[in-house]
Parts: sequence; C-alpha cells; structure tokens
Amino acid sequence: MMLSRRSLISAGGAAAAAAVLPLDRALAAAQAEWALAVRNVPGDLAPRALSLIHGRPPAGLAGTLYRNGPAQFTRGASRTHWFDGDGFVRAFEIRDGRATLAGRFVDTPKRRTEAAAGAMVVPGFGNPGSPATGFSGPDDLNAANTSMLAVGGKLWALWEGGSPTAIDPATLETRGFVRLRDDLKGVPFLAHPRVEPGGRVWNLGLFGSRAIVWRLSSAGELEAATPTELPYASYVHDFTATDRELVIVLQPWVRGTFSTPIVDSLQWKPELGTRVLVIDKDDLSRRRVYELPALSFFHLGDAWREADGTIRFDGCFGTDDTHIRGDVSRLTAGQTFHAKPARAAMIALGPDGRARIDWTASLAEFPQADRRRAGLPRTRTWHVAGDGKWPLPTAIAVTDWARQKTDRFGFDGQHLMEEGLFVPRGASSAEGDGWLVGTSLNLRARVTELHVFDALRLADGPVCSWRADVPLPVGFHGAFVRV
Ligand SMILES: [Fe+2]
Repeated sequence: MMLSRRSLISAGGAAAAAAVLPLDRALAAAQAEWALAVRNVPGDLAPRALSLIHGRPPAGLAGTLYRNGPAQFTRGASRTHWFDGDGFVRAFEIRDGRATLAGRFVDTPKRRTEAAAGAMVVPGFGNPGSPATGFSGPDDLNAANTSMLAVGGKLWALWEGGSPTAIDPATLETRGFVRLRDDLKGVPFLAHPRVEPGGRVWNLGLFGSRAIVWRLSSAGELEAATPTELPYASYVHDFTATDRELVIVLQPWVRGTFSTPIVDSLQWKPELGTRVLVIDKDDLSRRRVYELPALSFFHLGDAWREADGTIRFDGCFGTDDTHIRGDVSRLTAGQTFHAKPARAAMIALGPDGRARIDWTASLAEFPQADRRRAGLPRTRTWHVAGDGKWPLPTAIAVTDWARQKTDRFGFDGQHLMEEGLFVPRGASSAEGDGWLVGTSLNLRARVTELHVFDALRLADGPVCSWRADVPLPVGFHGAFVRV
C-alpha cells in the first residue's frame, strides 16, 4: 500500500497512539498540552543536534533560521502578558543535511531587573508591572522578544517600543542596544522593518502620533532618521512599502496619554474608520490618504504598484478589536479563549483615490512573501492558519492571489504552527520556487520541530522534518540567513 507523505507524518511523527486514537480523543489530548506554548524555558540551550524524523533534506538548502519570541512568562507567583515575556533567540542551523538547535535569552535590563526582583515587575504592553519599578526610558522596558533582523552581517533582536538589540550570530550572546545615532538613544524601532531587494531597510518608530522614519543602508548603517506626523495616534505594529512608497495603515485602535500597561491606553474607535497613508520614499512630505471602514490588524504583506498606479497589499485583518485585544492575558495562564481570528484580505488603493478591501475566507496570520519581490508585483503569500477553535494557529498555508486559492497543511491539529519563511531555490528561480522553512510545537510528542516544505506544494506536507529534544514556547518572527 502506498502511504501518502501526510499519513506517514501522522503515524510516524506522532506517538504510535495517534494512529489508533479516534481523532476527537487525540485532539482532546493535544489540547490538554497546548499550555506548552506559553511555558517558561528554564535557561539557555546549548547547541544540540536535531533528529531527522521524516524525509530527505533538500540539497542546496543551508543556513540558519533565527527566531525570536517570549520564553519567560512567570517568576515566583507573578505572571506576565504573552507579549511581555523575555525574548529568547533560537538558532536552527541546517547544513550538510543535518540540523542543530541553540537558544539563548536576550540579556536585557528588563530581564536583569526581574531576575533580581524574582517577579515580573517591569511594565509593558500588557503587564502593569510593579508601581515601585521605575524606568528612565523605553529600553528599560525592552523585552527584545518580537523578531530578528539580519543586516550587513549583523543580527538584531527587535521589539517595537525601543532600540534593536545586537546579538552575536554565532554564539547568540547579547552585545547590547544598537545606537543608530547618539541623539536617538531608545527611540522606537518597530519589529517589522521593510527590506528592499537590494538590502536597504525602511522602518518606523512611533511615539503617539509622531513617528521617525528610519532608513538604513544594506550594511545596517543609518542613512536618515526623519521625524514625521501621523493623522492620529494609531497602534502601529507593522507597515508596508512598494519600491517607491511607504504605506502606513492607521487602524482605529487609538492611543490616548501614554500609560502602562500600554494596552489599557488604547481605545477602539470604529467611527474613525481606517486611514491608509502613502508617503513617497524620495520626499517624505509628499503623501496622500485613503479611507476604508474600520479594520484591525497586526500584520501586513509586502505592497506593490501596478501599471495603472493602483497600490496593492494584503494583510490579516479583523473588523473589530476582538482579535487584537481579545483576552490574550489568559494565554499565559494556560487558558484558551475565544478570539475572533484574522482573515487574509487584499487592499487596493486606486489612482482615483478610492480604496477597496477584498476578503478571503482564510484565517491567517504572520504573512510572508518571496522577499526578492519586496515592493514589486507578486502573486503569493505564505501564512499560518487556524481552525478558529484554538487561539493559536494549527496549519501552514499559501494563498495564490491570482488563482484565488489557498492550500494548507496541518498535522491533524496536533501541532501549533509557527511562522514559515520563504527561501528561494536559487538566486534566479521564479517567485515561489523554493522552500518554506518553519517550526511547530508538536503537542503530542511535547517537542519543537523544524520543517522544510516545498513552497508551492504545502498541502503535500513537509519534504523533511527534524525533531528537538525539548518543547519551546510558540514564538513570533524570524529571519533566515543563508550560507
Ligand atoms: Fe509581529
């Protein structure tokens, strides 16, 4: 009998019991384990080999997937918000058909303060902290837990409210905050910079309705830091860009006077609608504004401009604040909750000044594209997907916008899927011709796994999978550095 790759993974990748348990019982067993997603990592992880459990690693794929995400959620009896856990950098290295894993906490002032206090006392996005814990600037609150940026041979751990943190790419040792300019100490640098195909980096830093537009060379050196004013103090986690324009989506989740926890200073004001600010990269004073109904979001896909001047970009949107606000604080208590998941949608900004959103039926988060096409026309978005029952994603998917089709793969709901990054097969291969490299938390085996998919054949399941000997909490974003 020929077994499909999918059934092989179901039977061989999970415990043998998975093959004989009815699916609903197996799912129930996995659900009981899902709190592993927010369990503390006890300490740094020395490099260790991963076990190949399925398939054959593709020749030509070599590099390191650096991922970031919170990994310290409690100290003593105190518990922090999911978004405020200490950053833990994971390095999954693939070389000569083998894979290794190492992990290290980012050594921040926040982590040192809380270690000394024996409690999660530093205020943040959702953690009120302790009134006795003072702070002198944003970097005293910096969790360095959201993403990774590899630029000019350097590796930075990113958070959205303060400076990047330099990380040694070989040892994962913390080298300290990155000072892009002496007078810009602690100025926020979002965790979602946009990198042009040539390597130039654009980013924003937000203080209410004021913003800094960062422009860095492909070597990671500062080229410009330009103050600008936004129409209102929207919560901006991500923005996007074409090759010529920055595209800043202002959702009606609006910040009042700065206070901590930050989430309590944000108010949902749907009557404002959504404004999309388009700014020329060459002259930041040249801008135009489009209007859409109230949308909520964390993440956007790369934008591009079509021949008639229409700007298009996708994103993962809701229509109220339940998916961005929800009751995320319950996550670190190991409790599920009913958040309304985001759906993939495509926005078009027409040359006539009108904006339009076209929704798909696909639940989606963490959109990724072929980064060689950043700012240029493209057809695909890779993203995680869910079943709407759990608060965290259980599948990986690719949406083909030209064909209006989404293909997906999940391990029968037994894994929590993390972000997948596209790695082209070769420098000149076509869009999408390559691999999607990503990780999952296998709830049945209670370990983290590393997967390589054929990026255009996700529904076939992984080309190969490796298994770690430890479970790591579900992380946020990363970067793949090819060798
Ligand atoms: Fe993000």
